[in-house]
Amino acid sequence: MNALITGSARGIGAAIAIKLAEDGYNIILNDISEKAFENNDLPEKIKALGVECYVKIADVSNYEQCEKLVSEIKQLGTIDVLVNNAGITRDNLLARMTEADYDLVINVNQKSVFNLTKLIGNVMLRQKSGNIVNVTSVAGIYGNAGQFNYSASKGALIAMTKTTAKELGSRGIRCNAVAPGFIRTPMTDKLTPEQQAEMLKAIALKRYGEVEDVANAVAFLVSKNAGYITGQIIEISGGLSM
Ligand SMILES: NC(=O)c1ccc[n+]([C@@H]2O[C@H](COP(=O)([O-])OP(=O)(O)OC[C@H]3O[C@@H](n4cnc5c(N)ncnc54)[C@H](O)[C@@H]3O)[C@@H](O)[C@H]2O)c1
Repeated sequence: MNALITGSARGIGAAIAIKLAEDGYNIILNDISEKAFENNDLPEKIKALGVECYVKIADVSNYEQCEKLVSEIKQLGTIDVLVNNAGITRDNLLARMTEADYDLVINVNQKSVFNLTKLIGNVMLRQKSGNIVNVTSVAGIYGNAGQFNYSASKGALIAMTKTTAKELGSRGIRCNAVAPGFIRTPMTDKLTPEQQAEMLKAIALKRYGEVEDVANAVAFLVSKNAGYITGQIIEISGGLSM
């Protein structure tokens, strides 16, 4: 069983890769540059779990690079799991947001999901099996000031998740999404103590999420235990914004 996790050199993607390796999947790590894997022991950590691990460099917003990526992965056998995790932010108030930052975020966060769902969806259709998980965000559900581009891209992923589930469901392929809230990563570590305290007030569980909280939910969604779940958006937010 092979699983591709995009943008998985670090952060949430890396945690998902480790969790799926623990569950016995061979892992295809992806990131945008070789540099992301320099001084990075993730491939060794994964191999130490007794599965295969491959590193594939590709900019997932680029259709041609995705075609090359998918043709290489097809050589490994079946493609059982696709986790569309790669994502970026270029935050600014709408009045100050540049067209370039709007286009970049839409391309990386949203077009990448078109690219790989189309290409790998076709492989899964032939296999008559497969699981896709999209990593969206609470910003895609509720919106967020300063994140017009990011919220738009993540909102689109929710519609894409449901559409994929409807198009591919009859062939036994499931597609779901996780919508993380505030997960402790270098991104959220940058916030001031005051900003962090303010955010915690809105979280029912009164703690930030950890990358493993997201990884555990993804592992459940691709497992047989979630065999009758498709087209769903699972918030991993500690009860934010209820
Ligand atoms: N951290 C959070 O609190 C949080 C909350 C909600 C949603 N998310 C989502 O979770 C996902 C992972 O976030 P993270 O916090 O781990 O971020 P991160 O920045 O730590 O990791 C993202 C990875 O994606 C890679 N990447 C960026 N552009 C790429 C491209 N074009 N092609 C291939 N790889 C690319 C980056 O190099 C990086 O390694 C993103 O989609 C993000 O929007 C994160």
